[in-house]
Amino acid sequence: MKTILTGIKPTGTPHLGNLLGAIRPAIELTNNSDFDRSLYFIADSHALTSIRDPKEYKENVYSVAATWIALGLDLDKAILFKQSDIPEVFELTWMLQCLTPKGDMNRAHSYKAKVQQNIENKTDEDHGVNMGLYNYPILMSADILLYDTNIVPVGKDQIQHIEIARSIAQRANQLYGASCLVEPQELIQEAGAYVPGLDGRKMSKSYGNTISLWETEKKLRKLINKITTDSSAPEEPKNPDDSIIMDLYKLFARPSEIQALEKRYKEGIGWGEAKLALFEVVNEYLSGPREIYTNLMNDKTQIDKILDRGRSQAKELAEKNMKRIRKMITGF
Ligand code: ADP
Ligand code: TRP
Repeated sequence: MKTILTGIKPTGTPHLGNLLGAIRPAIELTNNSDFDRSLYFIADSHALTSIRDPKEYKENVYSVAATWIALGLDLDKAILFKQSDIPEVFELTWMLQCLTPKGDMNRAHSYKAKVQQNIENKTDEDHGVNMGLYNYPILMSADILLYDTNIVPVGKDQIQHIEIARSIAQRANQLYGASCLVEPQELIQEAGAYVPGLDGRKMSKSYGNTISLWETEKKLRKLINKITTDSSAPEEPKNPDDSIIMDLYKLFARPSEIQALEKRYKEGIGWGEAKLALFEVVNEYLSGPREIYTNLMNDKTQIDKILDRGRSQAKELAEKNMKRIRKMITGF
């Protein structure tokens, strides 16, 4: 039995980076017969480290769920659920915390980055760090290990978290027996592993440089027009291998379209023309799903039904696995 699992944190409307780095590869894997089970969840408890407004929290959860559905996740093959609907994950989190050296968490990237930022701002090192942020990788390990996950499709930024999950599993297996926890592997799809944002840095909500998926056509066009370009004249030849617009275009266009645009770059293309070409392929990809997304968000009962079904399917697995793990770790 081979299981794939991944989660998206509901901290805002999903963007092109989430689509290409996580959601699209995950949907493709669901249709791949090498895997018997796929679990996709909304990592809502992870969002609690930063979201303080319950209305925003709830809306974001629906937005992520609707995104998976609108983009065509096959709900007969995959289980879509909300992390916090499965209390077993919190029981396992505690057990894993007791197996994790504190030093490992000191070395976790997101915590370290926050500390570094505080040092630069000359404030207390732990300013603005809550225990949820500090323990984030352990809850994420529990997400993965609870379901006996083999493969976790994620973007490159999550590799360290999967390594942490693997090392916790190894520790548990040494202590309690090899069949305690399955050791997971990350799966990085090279094509979408590092999607650039409007300013050329990694597209991320924390940098405010995202192209979010569900903008109106007009806003999508405006956003794409904001992509940073240099001031070279329209007729000057341009390097297609050094262009954010081209990098994004390649993730949506067909090979023949890519070749044609590369040719235009070499001949000399105005940035306006390149941006329009990008808008057209992104918009073509998203216009069908956009309509489904909007309908789902306007009447959330369908999302509720899908998440309810996902909860009972995930719960069954979680109960069964937790029973085994609990017995191995506590004897009960
Ligand atoms: P953000 O950085 O905007 O907060 P998340 O941390 O919620 O995004 O990411 C959810 C998933 O999307 C993760 O698997 C992550 O690796 C992937 N992802 C996010 N941004 C990108 C990007 N720019 N390129 C590729 N994958 C990404
Ligand atoms: N940490 C992931 C992110 O920020 C979200 C996440 C939570 C996740 N639990 C997970 C991803 C388990 C994969 C597997 O994007």
